[in-house]
Amino acid sequence: MTTPHIFITRRIPADKLAQLRQYCQVDLWDEELPPPRQALLEHVQGVKAILCLLTERIDAEVMDSASPQLKVISNCAVGYDNIDVAEATRRGIPVGNTPGVLTDTTADFAFALLIAAARRVVEGDAFTRAGRWKTWGLTQLLGQDVTGATLGIIGFGRIGRGMAKRAQGFDMRVLYFDPVSQDDSYATEVGAQSTDLDSLLRQADFISVHAPLNEATYHLIGTEALAKMKPTAILINTARGPIVDPDALYHALKDGVICYAALDVTEPEPIPMDHPLLTLQNLIIAPHIASASVKTRGKMIQMSIDNLLAGVRGERLPNCVNPEVYISG
Ligand code: DGY
Repeated sequence: MTTPHIFITRRIPADKLAQLRQYCQVDLWDEELPPPRQALLEHVQGVKAILCLLTERIDAEVMDSASPQLKVISNCAVGYDNIDVAEATRRGIPVGNTPGVLTDTTADFAFALLIAAARRVVEGDAFTRAGRWKTWGLTQLLGQDVTGATLGIIGFGRIGRGMAKRAQGFDMRVLYFDPVSQDDSYATEVGAQSTDLDSLLRQADFISVHAPLNEATYHLIGTEALAKMKPTAILINTARGPIVDPDALYHALKDGVICYAALDVTEPEPIPMDHPLLTLQNLIIAPHIASASVKTRGKMIQMSIDNLLAGVRGERLPNCVNPEVYISG
């Protein structure tokens, strides 16, 4: 067998690159920033595999540019809304992702955002650094209690469940909305109660988004949903930016429709520096780092390498989002 030619769309750790170089002829986009579209289209030409990040849009045009020998698309992320999976499936190309390894790391961060927003941690730091800390004040930087509050979880998959588990430690009442998840044994274990979206929005003190981005969830949290929330509500989004309508969120935060938000993801990413959301104090924005721990990112890269190598060898991917490609006929 000739050495397979692969394209990696971003710099990866040297030991991981060395692993791939043992088996593949590697074209590496050795940069901090993603390849521009034209470069992506050129670099995929003739490759057997693409190892990409969630910043690369892998659609029919990219597959056309690569084809016909493209055997696998390996996404170094659990979410795969950046890939046209239906198109890949149509062409019989397996798509790999990295489920499981980032669950706790992401849930930890979502909970960190929840507490940071509730207790105004980021504002407090800015206040101190600006020399505004003059005394201990009875009403200075008052926040909201987490213990005993109601948490509403939208999307009760692995990470949503991780949030519910963490909420137990804070004696929170947990509601969840998930149109797909029917298995409620874990919910019972962590004391979470299934409800419809409307009741969740109306009852929750904290609303944390953990759903995938798709047609049904695009701008799910818009003007209408925000208007149903309590004026004291705090919204957390660590899932995908476009699930929350940024203009609607801006107006809701500015006009006191809801109290606070903490986002790890935005629409678009990165958020432009002149975006109105950045003028607000009652908002925390992190640069999509919920899974960014040393251990977890190492595991994610390894999983995407394992998926890629399986794909180039014609073996079943250990983690495949479109297993239908293996059904013959
Ligand atoms: C993912 O994997 O989908 C996250 O958004 C990045 O870790």
